[in-house]
Amino acid sequence: MRISITSWVQEELRRWIDDGAICVDATVGKGGDTIYLCEAAGAKGKVVGFDIQEEALKTAKNRLEEKKLKAELHLAGHECMDEYLEEDTVSVIMFNLGYLPGGNHKIATKSATTLQAIEKGLLLLKHGGILSLCIYSGGDSGFEERNQVLEFLKGLDDKKYLVIQQKFFNKVEHAPLPVFILKL
Ligand SMILES: C[S@@+](CC[C@H](N)C(=O)[O-])C[C@H]1O[C@@H](n2cnc3c(N)ncnc32)[C@H](O)[C@@H]1O
Repeated sequence: MRISITSWVQEELRRWIDDGAICVDATVGKGGDTIYLCEAAGAKGKVVGFDIQEEALKTAKNRLEEKKLKAELHLAGHECMDEYLEEDTVSVIMFNLGYLPGGNHKIATKSATTLQAIEKGLLLLKHGGILSLCIYSGGDSGFEERNQVLEFLKGLDDKKYLVIQQKFFNKVEHAPLPVFILKL
């Protein structure tokens, strides 16, 4: 049995996604999380996705079509998500940071735009909504993005947000970090 960080985060989020929910996949890649969100939000739901790689979005689109699922996919950086969604309306926003496995490791999320996107995402979330982050470090991911994101999250007002950071406790160094931010 193998449990990946992405499947772990998906399981954690399941109870936050009602039928008909508005959800965002901030890093679509090949669409694994987009498919999950479409299935969880159901036919009445709306899923909006962002990625800067056209090839990745094509793959995601094909996978969605095979499953007869619909999502609104944008070839755009997640730092622009506020151009597509309204404040206080979104139930769940997923970020799976880093580079696309099997793709070019240099095309990866970057701390400056990731921080902008998280700030915007928190405005778009409705109260009671949740934003998840899978944060990678070490290897080609380095440490800058992880450190800056964690520093930013530490400064969030605890009257407005609950931040939970989980840990793969017995795993090797630089295990991925699942983080959840609940808008109170
Ligand atoms: C770890 S992968 C996502 C994997 C995806 N969730 C899946 O299931 O295949 C990270 C993705 O973030 C994308 N990315 C990098 N910078 C971005 C940005 N500013 N806005 C949106 N996506 C970005 C990359 O192109 C890459 O596809």
